[in-house]
This record gives sequence, C-alpha cells and structure tokens, in this order.
Amino acid sequence: MSLISLVFLFLLRLEFASAFFSWHSFLYEFGLLGAHPTTPFHSFSIASPEVNLLRWDPRCEDGYVLLSPRGRFYPEPGPLIYDNRGNLVWVEKDYGMIMDLNVQQYRDQDYLTFWVGKDDGTRGLGSYYMLNSSYNVAHVVSPANGLHGDVHDFKITDEGTALMTVYDLVETDLTPAGKSGNGWIYEGIFQEVDIETGELIFQWSAGDYYNLDDSYFDIGEKGYAPHQAGAYDYYHINSVEKRADGSYLVSSRYMHSVTCISATGEVLWVLGGKRNMFKDLSDDGSATGFTWQHDARWHSDRIVTLLDNGANEHEKTADHTRGLMIELDFNNWTARTLHVYHSPGHFSSHSQGNMQVLPRTGNVFIGWGKPSAYTEFSTDGAEVLCDAHYGPSMFFWFGWIKSYRAQKANWVGKPSWPPSIAVNAEKSSHAVYVSWNGATEISGWLLQQTTNRASKDFATLGYEPKKGFETRFELAPDTIVDGYFYRVAAVDYKGEELGYTRVFAISDITSPSLTNAEPDGDGFQQLLIAACIAGALLAAAWKYKRQVMGTYAYCRRFIWGVMDRYRYRSHRSYRK
Ligand SMILES: *[C@@H]1O[C@H](CO)[C@@H](O)[C@H](O)[C@H]1NC(C)=O
Ligand SMILES: *[C@@H]1O[C@H](CO)[C@@H](O)[C@H](O)[C@H]1NC(C)=O
Repeated sequence: MSLISLVFLFLLRLEFASAFFSWHSFLYEFGLLGAHPTTPFHSFSIASPEVNLLRWDPRCEDGYVLLSPRGRFYPEPGPLIYDNRGNLVWVEKDYGMIMDLNVQQYRDQDYLTFWVGKDDGTRGLGSYYMLNSSYNVAHVVSPANGLHGDVHDFKITDEGTALMTVYDLVETDLTPAGKSGNGWIYEGIFQEVDIETGELIFQWSAGDYYNLDDSYFDIGEKGYAPHQAGAYDYYHINSVEKRADGSYLVSSRYMHSVTCISATGEVLWVLGGKRNMFKDLSDDGSATGFTWQHDARWHSDRIVTLLDNGANEHEKTADHTRGLMIELDFNNWTARTLHVYHSPGHFSSHSQGNMQVLPRTGNVFIGWGKPSAYTEFSTDGAEVLCDAHYGPSMFFWFGWIKSYRAQKANWVGKPSWPPSIAVNAEKSSHAVYVSWNGATEISGWLLQQTTNRASKDFATLGYEPKKGFETRFELAPDTIVDGYFYRVAAVDYKGEELGYTRVFAISDITSPSLTNAEPDGDGFQQLLIAACIAGALLAAAWKYKRQVMGTYAYCRRFIWGVMDRYRYRSHRSYRK
C-alpha cells in the first residue's frame, strides 16, 4: 500500500514538476491524508478538522461559518465555528451530537442556537439550546404538549416566539398508501411556542391538508410498527419560517412541495409536488419540479429560495444538487426560476443541506449537507466565489463527515474561560503557543512579566499579532529570566486586555506535546484508496501526458458512480 503510494507520488511529481499545483490540496481531496484530516494544536486539546479552501475571493461576505459536523469519521460530534479562511474559532464536545448551529436574534441579542438530543435516523428527539455570547446556556426550548423537538428546524421569530418541527408517531389508515388497515406514520408538525413561557401559540399538522398518496416516498415495508424502523415517514417536514403577515412557509421533502399556511391554519398555496398551484415558466421546469429539497425560505415578497437535492438515499431524480431562487407571481399563479447555484463538480447531496442569501452582499451561501463542503456564489449563480471542503471530496458520497446545515453569520464570542497556553522547550528556543477557544475579538497577544507569582502587577514585554486559531512566538533567551513569572494577555483592536493565560516560570517549561490526532481509516477506506491509486497508476501509464487532476476527477466520479449504482440496485431488489 505505502509502496504503491510512493510510486504514485513519484509519477505525480514527474507530471507536475513545473505546473501550479498544491500537493497538499491534491492529497487532501484524494483521501490520502485520511478520511478526516485534522490540524493539531499545542495549547488546545481538540484537533481542528482541517478545511481545504479550494477557492477564495475577497468578494465573499465577512462572517463566520457555523457547522455541526458528525459522521463515521467524526466520532465526537458537536458545534464548530470557522472563520472566513477556514481557521478554527470555536469547537465544543460537551453537548454530544448537535444539529443546525446558527446565530439568531432574541430580544435584540445574538444567540448561538442548535438542537441537542437523540437522532433516530428519521427525526430527532430533543430540544433547542440558546447560548449567549459567553457560551452559557441562556434558554432551552422544547415543544409544547410533551412532544419532542426534532432536528430539522428551530427558528426564532421577530415576535420572540420560536418555530420548531415535530415528528409525531400516530396511528392511521394506510389504505391511501396502498396498504390495508391501520398502521403507523410520522405526522409532520410544526409548533410556534413562546420562548419565555413555553406556551403553545400555533400548531399545524400536515395531515390536516395532505394525504398519504401525495407523498413521493415509497412506503415499502413500512407502516406496521410504532417505532423508527417501522413507521412511515410520508411528509418529512424540514423547514418552517414565519413572515410579517403571520403566514408560515413549510418545506416537505417527501412531497417535493413548499406550502404557505395562513395565520389561522388554511393552506394559501402550494409550490411543487402533486398539489402544485403554479404554472412553471422556467425552461427546465425547475421552479415547480424540484425534488427531495431542503430549506425553503422567503428572500423577498415574491422570491423563495431552496436547496433542490434532486436525490434521496435510494433514488436520484436530478443530475446533481443545486440551489434555486424562484420568483412567484400571485396574480397569474406562475413560478419562474431566476437563478441556479450548481454544486461545484456537479455532485449530488442525497440528504441534508441548506441555502442562505447573505444579508450584505446578496451572495448565496450553500451548505451541501452530506458532502462535507460549503460554497459561496455570486447572486446570479454565475460565479463560485469561495469553496471549501471540511473532508475529502473523494468520500462525499459516504457522508463520513457531514453537517446538516452550514450557515454564515456574524458572531461575537467572549468566553467565560481563560485563554490556553503551552510553553515548550524546542530545539534552540522556548516557544509559546496561545489560543482562546470561542474568542472572536482578539487582535493579538501581550507577553507580560512579574516578580511574584501572586502579583497582579505585570509589565508588558512584547506584542504578537494573532495568527489563526493558535499563535506561536519564540521567547528570546534574554527576555525570559529565571526567578520571574510570565503570562500572556489577549488584547482587542483597541488594546484592551480581554483575558490572561495561567502564569508560568522557566521551571514550568516542558517538552512539546501535540494534540493527538484521532486515528482514522478502516479496511474499507484503505481498499477504496488502494483501488483508486491502482486505477490512477494504470491511467497514468496508459496516457502519460494526461493531467493528474483529470485522473483524480475521473476517480472521484467513478467512486460516486459505482456507489450510486450499488445503492440504487440494492434498493430496487429490496422493493421487489
Ligand atoms: C450569559 O449567561 C450567564 C449565565 O446565565 C451569565 O452569567 C452571563 O453574564 C451571560 N453573559 C452575557 C454576555 O449575557
Ligand atoms: C400577469 O398578468 C398580467 C395581467 O393579466 C400581465 O399584464 C402580466 O404580463 C402577466 N405577467 C406575466 C409574467 O406573465
């Protein structure tokens, strides 16, 4: 295996000796750095999932990227924030698996919001957390009437209420789905609840309007048991939001529809699916023909955006996943696709994902869900401005590292814990590593000195600008004197000191110890990589001049294709 890799790398070197090419990026995307490449730190115990920034443009909107990574090769899930360049800002493992990390406003303050609970594969059983700027839990919100909060959406309204999705197990007549007698389904519900009191303000159930035979999701063998594996999820609600006129916008993945519901619970209109009310004016029929979509949002009075997945775990209905901006005309009942945002390289996201129109630039930001990628487009979709992967694209199909959604937002984090420091004896010097998980306001670090460990009176010796998550600087041998005590202070752009590391002396300086990167990879992954490398070797030998990136793209497509065929074939035989 390693011999093959060496030969392969040697061939690559011949091909690309002079071309502009990033080795690291290539190895990352190919999966040769592992399924989950990480950046370890000296001062902080959690290694950061490494971001491969494939494209960056200053026109990309300022803001942080919020993810909730999880998956087979992300064994300790939790919330994660990156800056615009893919540097770690905040990571936390204390909440276990979370979904839908976002910044939302409640009573004029920003909160980090996310779902916490148990995910049973279809729905979530949990509640919604709201953290204030010091990362303390300020509110925990749950649905009313003893129901469980589901993963798919939690949206704070301008009135200080919260919308949330609920999947409720109910018994019903399965005849419309082609089965006989009564059985079990997941009812698609959303609630509006007062955040302060928990009082129920409004509730809507899909079953009040939709029938089982409006669904595109095959009931298969399901419907006869009151639990996750047995119940029929016919609607699959996955987003809800409220407009100033009091109406609600709901997305149903399994009905391929977006429904607008009045403040009193009547259905005002349906876009897409079997009950579509709009004439589609777009050439490709995408304005009403989207399938298995996520995240339907109002962009303006007449414009709705959504992520058209065009695939689910068993079925592919479009070539690739794309974002859509759709204009609705309520006089003529027509719908027209204004802009399309194609996944770079045209991959499919079989599940999850979201689309956001950014407030200042109008750029469109898409989290691709199952593929570990997020992309920022120009408003018209013609240009990919920024494109980042937080796991190798070779393994997109598998969802080994995925995030239900990715959001871009502003956030001010002022952690209640202090900055961290490691001071290491390195070859010829003493190196200081400082970081502060979650702190967004740091511009740099001050090295400070005192004569007494208990003293509060420190003198500043030097300044070091912040570089990424962890800043390294060296202690000159004559700066640091035995018998004195030292600390590092974080300072903001105005020079105000925000927090201090622990105090250390020369006698505390230890040998370096890096965060242990988690071991990853297993037999299956090794096999895939080996097979691909062997294929690439053959291809390179066969066509010596062929561009290696071409081989790589071919390999990636090959893997995705084989897996598609494998999955869909096995599903078809299951249905027989
Ligand atoms: C956040 O919440 C904690 C706990 O309630 C509180 O002590 C802290 O002052 C709050 N921070 C902010 C910035 O409101
Ligand atoms: C909608 O109908 C109005 C009035 O009938 C017409 O003037 C307008 O051109 C129509 N708009 C579109 C986009 O067809």
